[in-house]
Amino acid sequence: MAESHEQTTSSPTDNPVDPSHAWLELAPDYERARTREDSLDRLVEWPAQRDLLGDVAGRSVLDLGCGNGGKLAELVRDGAAASVGVDVSGNFLSVPVPGLELIQGDLNELDAVPGLAGRTFDRILFLQSFGYAKDPVRTLQTARAMLADDVFILLTKTQPIRYAVEQAERNRTSLGEEYFSTARFSYRSGWNEQITLTKRRYTIADLINVFSAAGLCIETAIEPQLSEDARGRYPHKQAWMNKYLGILVFKLRPHPGQ
Ligand SMILES: C[S@@+](CC[C@H](N)C(=O)[O-])C[C@H]1O[C@@H](n2cnc3c(N)ncnc32)[C@H](O)[C@@H]1O
Repeated sequence: MAESHEQTTSSPTDNPVDPSHAWLELAPDYERARTREDSLDRLVEWPAQRDLLGDVAGRSVLDLGCGNGGKLAELVRDGAAASVGVDVSGNFLSVPVPGLELIQGDLNELDAVPGLAGRTFDRILFLQSFGYAKDPVRTLQTARAMLADDVFILLTKTQPIRYAVEQAERNRTSLGEEYFSTARFSYRSGWNEQITLTKRRYTIADLINVFSAAGLCIETAIEPQLSEDARGRYPHKQAWMNKYLGILVFKLRPHPGQ
């Protein structure tokens, strides 16, 4: 899972360095963890994301914060049309995939990403990357402007409650205090303990309001869980899910009439 074993700590400052910078170093560690047999990305997230995407044959896909581009490569192999992945890390698959372009760029500056100018896409993905948007409404609005007709954005986000549970344990506070706190928090990455990431918090209401302000409505929301089989094989992962819930997956469409 993208963020499954990270330890969180309250940040003494509300003006942290850009958390995206950490990914220049962290990206290979993340990809190593993702390919583990018991990774929650493998067991829960990617199957749920893939399921909601449905048939991608002939659909162009833009994956923002695409990691090494592995998920997008799979979509292209499943028939997706000319697709583009953008990631700040530049830690991409070493073997080129025909029909797939991977660009080092910042999802906060989509207008400046070479290769995106004037293009539209049938599907836009933010898979565990939306939390790095500095101005989330602007980022979603810019993405929305790149959507062709009959299209959607797939956005996945760690359950905000997970961070609140971790913070409450660490700070000996309550769930509500942490969930509704507006302070940013920092944590040592579970993929590389030398690296600290900093994030802003979202409540569920914050997320819904950001989508709405960007002119998007929620068509479907899911909270994917381990399959019966995976629960039996990986009880430690089920224990983690029981405590931290997992991720939210949203299928977002442009608001009709806007
Ligand atoms: C948790 S990983 C998820 C990767 C991939 N989407 C997946 O689902 O496996 C977060 C990704 O967001 C990327 N990222 C972070 N900040 C970014 C930014 N400002 N612009 C583009 N990508 C960013 C990181 O480099 C990393 O690959």
